[in-house]
Amino acid sequence: MLKKINLVKNDVSIENLEEDQAGHELEALARVLAEHDQLYYQFDSPMVSDDVYDSLRARYVALETYFPYLIRPDTSSCRIGAPPIESFRKVWHTVPMLSLNSALTEEDVAAFLRRVRQFLGLSRSIPVVVVAEPKIDGVSVSLRYENGVFVQGATRGDGIEGENITENLRTLKEVPLLLDSKMNIPEKLEVRGEVYMTKEEFIKLKGNCREIGNYYKSFSNPRNAASGSLRQFDPRITAARPLHLFAYACGDVDNPPWRTHWEFLERLRGFGFIVNPLVRRCETLEEILEFYESLVTRRNALSYEIDGLVYKIDRVDWQRRLGLMRRAPRWAIAHKFPGEEACTIIESITTSVSRTGRLTPVACLRPVTINGVKISRATLHNEEEIARRDVRVGDTVIIRRAGSVIPQVVSVVAAMRPKDTQPYQGPTFCPICYSLTTRESGGGIRRCTGGLICPAQRTERLKHFVSRNAFNITGLREKHLENLYADGLIRSPADIFSLEEHDHIIPLATRAGWGVRSACKLFKNIRAKRRVCFHRLLYALGIRHVGEATAKTLAAHYRNLTRLRVAMAAAQDRTSEAWHELVNIPMVGLLKSETITAFFAEQHNLDILDELEKLVYVQADDSQGQELLPLFGLKIVFSGQLTTMSREEARSRAVSLGARVTNSVSKKTDYVVLGGNGGAKAKKAVALGVPLIREQTWISLINRDG
Ligand code: IVH
Repeated sequence: MLKKINLVKNDVSIENLEEDQAGHELEALARVLAEHDQLYYQFDSPMVSDDVYDSLRARYVALETYFPYLIRPDTSSCRIGAPPIESFRKVWHTVPMLSLNSALTEEDVAAFLRRVRQFLGLSRSIPVVVVAEPKIDGVSVSLRYENGVFVQGATRGDGIEGENITENLRTLKEVPLLLDSKMNIPEKLEVRGEVYMTKEEFIKLKGNCREIGNYYKSFSNPRNAASGSLRQFDPRITAARPLHLFAYACGDVDNPPWRTHWEFLERLRGFGFIVNPLVRRCETLEEILEFYESLVTRRNALSYEIDGLVYKIDRVDWQRRLGLMRRAPRWAIAHKFPGEEACTIIESITTSVSRTGRLTPVACLRPVTINGVKISRATLHNEEEIARRDVRVGDTVIIRRAGSVIPQVVSVVAAMRPKDTQPYQGPTFCPICYSLTTRESGGGIRRCTGGLICPAQRTERLKHFVSRNAFNITGLREKHLENLYADGLIRSPADIFSLEEHDHIIPLATRAGWGVRSACKLFKNIRAKRRVCFHRLLYALGIRHVGEATAKTLAAHYRNLTRLRVAMAAAQDRTSEAWHELVNIPMVGLLKSETITAFFAEQHNLDILDELEKLVYVQADDSQGQELLPLFGLKIVFSGQLTTMSREEARSRAVSLGARVTNSVSKKTDYVVLGGNGGAKAKKAVALGVPLIREQTWISLINRDG
């Protein structure tokens, strides 16, 4: 039960207060206000009227205004003073917030260490020190400091662009608002870490809320609760939630003075952050695995949830050399714990139809709870997979949930199979539009041939089009889209923007049960989205394999829709320069190039784009892209054996600086970098008049620019 709340009442006028009296009153008021906030926001049960609350807060603010030097950065008004907002602004991560590659077995970990050694060209005698840290199952955040002052906090988002949640993060006690100035603080410092809720706090919240209302019902586990709590538009709600932070990485930083990750963690502690106390320096694979085993057994006893360990190469200069792969660093890996399993029965197998027409068999299960999450469905992937494991309706199965992964059927308990079960057969007709289905050769994937006449694909496409990271049109829910589709008002994305012009729309909306006010609000939202960033439009189109990150890359490369359309028309010819350009864009490659050009080959897609271009203004993306990189645009070929680094490292350094590295020399090559004697490519370069540069010159070039 909560403590009884003392109301502070002090009628002495502020001008007559002594400094220490004011200090005491501020402190007491801060406590009282925090308690009221908790009662109001967390438990929905205020103990005082709004008037009383407002007068307490007014007194608090007045005290701070009169005695500004008494404001402590960690007091209530700084932590929860910001007014609620309506949406989060976006934040570009100057250094992308990457994910981690996973290791599931000991062999995967050994392979990681081998790859590191090979990449760096290390001999066996040189130890590779690794820092092992618990992988916290929470929400990753970025915290920016300028001269030691907290200036911006953001979510990870898609790793490239996150949401600005500064005011919410300010409310966490474990986010230092001022770094401890006894340390030498870099002018610009971005600290990354994980916000989490302890298991006990989560259960307590759920329990309290059951008594008071069902506020937390929607949060199934501590991670969701932490994430939901951070993404509140009113920071006072976040302030009332029990959130913690473990700091574990740095992002954008000026001249980092630490040489190892271990040293960095020590500095973090010195700055005032909490670093997980279980971090450990390991020198051998055996030590790493021993630590992993010890945590597997201790895992449940920890007060917070972890879903594995993260191993990071300790030396920062090695981290820099190892660099990044597409979405994850080469210098770290997540060693996951085995997912938790449960036993249940498949009651039926249904089929879901995706936006791209892919049919996926889904097992409908007798509900079971794993790690506090109720599971009633599990993916069965495709027919080939079902046939391989002979999964049938009525079977008793073991299912597993690992982290945020969709629950999987691990195995069938053959001995418990009832009589008269039948092998599974995929549907001949689409369960939504009854068009014939086809099975792709090779894979077991079945597709609906209905294309845009299939309502599942249509509404799924429309849902995707209006979704948060696409056009972000709030108020147009799935049910609305289905109704409007059925009424013939929205058949293609462009129809959304002419919705308001239908004079019978209001009566229709009212009939559909969403009221005149919400319909008007929706029109306002739609109008506001008539100006859209190029990458959002690209993502909204729902081109196969084009997720947010690829959309951003394409937008940064082609800058505007017209240039992209011209290029894609040209790229239909596989021998064209346009096709080669597309395939060579980092993160694009062959598979995506195929689906992108296929999209632009369909007349009905071009029609949709024409219609959209008439109704929305497509804003060119800011030049956040590759072109800012120092070697952008250079085409480089490496020839012969390099002496200072492996070929793989040389290639990765060049690519990370924006260059394009190819294997063969052509007239378009800008430089050939010579290692050793150079070999055949050097001869060709001479013949074509391509400049040759020595390895040392190359190294000084990248070091200067890097
Ligand atoms: S380091 C470039 N350390 O795991 C490496 N991540 O799968 C940046 N996570 O998005 C991450 N505990 O949310 C790192 N001790 C830890 C972590 C950790 C949890 C999360 C983080 C990240 C995800 C990657």
